[in-house]
Amino acid sequence: MLGITAGVAAYKAAELARLLVKQGALVQVVMTPSAHEFIGAMTLQAITGRPVRDQLFDADAEAAMGHIELARWADAIVIAPATADFMAKLAMGAADNLLLTICLATQAPVLIAPAMNEKMWAHPATQENQTKLTAQGVKLIGPAVGEQACGDVGPGRMVEPAEILAAAAELFELGPLSGKRVMITAGPTREPIDAVRYLSNRSSGKMGYALANAARLAGAEVLLISGPVSLDAPKGCALTEVTSADEMYGAVMNQLDGVDIFIAAAAVADYRAEYVAEKKIKKTEDTLTVNLVKNPDILREVAASAQRPFCVGFAAETNDLEQYATDKLNDKQLDMIAANWVGDQQGFDTEDNALLVIWSEGQTQLPQQPKRELAKQLMTLIEEHYHAKTTTQSS
Ligand code: PMT
Repeated sequence: MLGITAGVAAYKAAELARLLVKQGALVQVVMTPSAHEFIGAMTLQAITGRPVRDQLFDADAEAAMGHIELARWADAIVIAPATADFMAKLAMGAADNLLLTICLATQAPVLIAPAMNEKMWAHPATQENQTKLTAQGVKLIGPAVGEQACGDVGPGRMVEPAEILAAAAELFELGPLSGKRVMITAGPTREPIDAVRYLSNRSSGKMGYALANAARLAGAEVLLISGPVSLDAPKGCALTEVTSADEMYGAVMNQLDGVDIFIAAAAVADYRAEYVAEKKIKKTEDTLTVNLVKNPDILREVAASAQRPFCVGFAAETNDLEQYATDKLNDKQLDMIAANWVGDQQGFDTEDNALLVIWSEGQTQLPQQPKRELAKQLMTLIEEHYHAKTTTQSS
């Protein structure tokens, strides 16, 4: 999310928005009401492809994505330029406009690029606000030293958009999984029967890709092993595309070295055809028998491997969810399992999902919500359990 407050440097926010979009970010611009005096919302809307948000009390916008949802939606908040007034309000926890409210309600990292007259920057009140904001975990970049719009020279200029972009990227490198390697399987597998037909399932890959994105946002190096889906790979993830369960198994085992956390979100076909017909099977008989043989159980093999990472499985079930998931947790010797109730328009190929997450000493329900948000919650749980386990092991 890009926040813009009422400073002359607001014109540079358009360039920052452009750079962020170029990097593949979904950019939602939120302006303070007086920022409109310095830059037009149409410009920003044209660059980001999304209507600018600026009203705290806007029934239409709230119905679509309310301010709390926006606060949850944001993976990071960059405010450029940030005026002295905005810094003061943010430091004291004020929430009298949409941008301040979002900053107060978010758990995402916040980066601000101050821009103001050098005397305003040097004022003890602004300096105290800077200290307070840093203590609250807000990151600051700049201000830069140089000539200002008012003619004064000194610290107060907003740093250039390219530098802000680099600082925004660093926010993710400092996440709780920085330095960790996470491997995620996603999507369906396809098991060929003949030259043109295959067995598969309705997995869209959305859950696995959302997890890859969440792991990346937590600072991890992400290896995404994906069956055939029509999704773009999340930025910054190393994607390996596979088709069949056998190929997925091979790709996982090949790259397993050094993996700290393995998350199996893929809907891997349990069986494949024993013989694949080279040519298209003809419709000559009333019935057709295809002999199926078991595929390798990738998750089970990873959990039993010598270099065993922290293992998280999924259990897609149409009934007895908790019981079956607990059985899989124990049987496959996992650290955690996300039980996913499926069928009846649930779980597979949907935008929203809900999970019952189970581990040996407890469980928690993650409520129905967009997969993107759900993935962030699940990743937080995984991080906590992973760190607890590795701390116990090393003490
Ligand atoms: O892709 P979406 O449309 O977003 O849908 C998400 C989802 C419903 C596919 C996902 O949330 C989910 O539940 N994935 C697991 C589906 C599944 O195959 O569950 P299972 O109960 O059959 O398998 C148990 C676990 O073993 C899973 O972690 C699975 O990835 C793994 N497994 C299964 C078989 C196999 N041969 N190898 C495996 O690794």
